Amino acid sequence: MQKLINSINKLKKEKNAIILAHCYQPVEIDLVADFVGDSLALSQKAAQTKADIIVFAGVYFMAQTAKILSPNKKVLLPQIEAGCRMADMITYKQLIDFKSKHPNIPTVCYVNSTAEVKSECDMCCTSSNAVNVVKSMNAEKILFLPDTYLGKWVEKQLGNVEVITYPGFCPTHLQIRPDDVEKMRIQHPNALILAHPECHTTVSEMADYVGSTTGIMNFVKNSSHNEFVIATEQGVTDRLKRDYPDKTFISIKDNIVCPNMKMTSLEDILNVLENETNEIFVKEEIAQKAVKCIDSMLEVSK
Ligand code: 13P
Ligand code: SF4
Repeated sequence: MQKLINSINKLKKEKNAIILAHCYQPVEIDLVADFVGDSLALSQKAAQTKADIIVFAGVYFMAQTAKILSPNKKVLLPQIEAGCRMADMITYKQLIDFKSKHPNIPTVCYVNSTAEVKSECDMCCTSSNAVNVVKSMNAEKILFLPDTYLGKWVEKQLGNVEVITYPGFCPTHLQIRPDDVEKMRIQHPNALILAHPECHTTVSEMADYVGSTTGIMNFVKNSSHNEFVIATEQGVTDRLKRDYPDKTFISIKDNIVCPNMKMTSLEDILNVLENETNEIFVKEEIAQKAVKCIDSMLEVSK
């Protein structure tokens, strides 16, 4: 493995490339990543980088967002088939139908959506800034897509905005059921339960803390507690175990894994860096509209 890491690092230098990795990626990807974070932090890095090449260790919509924010850079996705099952739940046509059923209401899309979908929405959000984004719109009603659970969670946090949600969801997070939380409370009575807002509403209501992947990591960093049950993708639990060997982390359930996030390997990263393959392109007219929706999100997240 060290040989592989050395080859990647050498190519990164030669080609002025940067590797951005989401924290659901296989944990060994961190060995070559310049930055590991949540969706918001990764898009902020993609917007700021001076590198010529961005290798995005993540899924398709993330690389597409990076390309929209840095159109003059080469963005490479190590595994071109790595999509997001939630993002695939709403097409451009389905968005237009959804909007026509609820006319004249501002639309917020989760970053987990295609560039075409973003191009027809007013603002974008990630799980870490969704509450602030919706609040910043100063509207009584908001259309929110594709994640119904994140939308409903935002509605509950704000209390004064009606959030009309599209029925999309993350199949990985929906595997976590309320009885898994109940079981963990009995088995680990001293543990705090930390959940991602893509989880089912009842799961989020039962958790001690709900936040983005970075939110969960920061919660642990700032907590004096020693035992945590993690209700999100396995990559977060793996990184917490690595970073805090003296604390105990229990995954709420076996196999809470996003198959698309786990497609990336170090070999794939070396391959795209070497051959500059799997380049992401976004049509100019779509990118020009989608960038407004992403930029307005970055503006409220400064
Ligand atoms: P965050 O990293 O923003 O919490 O996103 C979770 C996710 O599902 C990414 O696909
Ligand atoms: Fe999409 Fe869920 Fe995988 Fe995130 S964890 S990339 S929302 S399928």
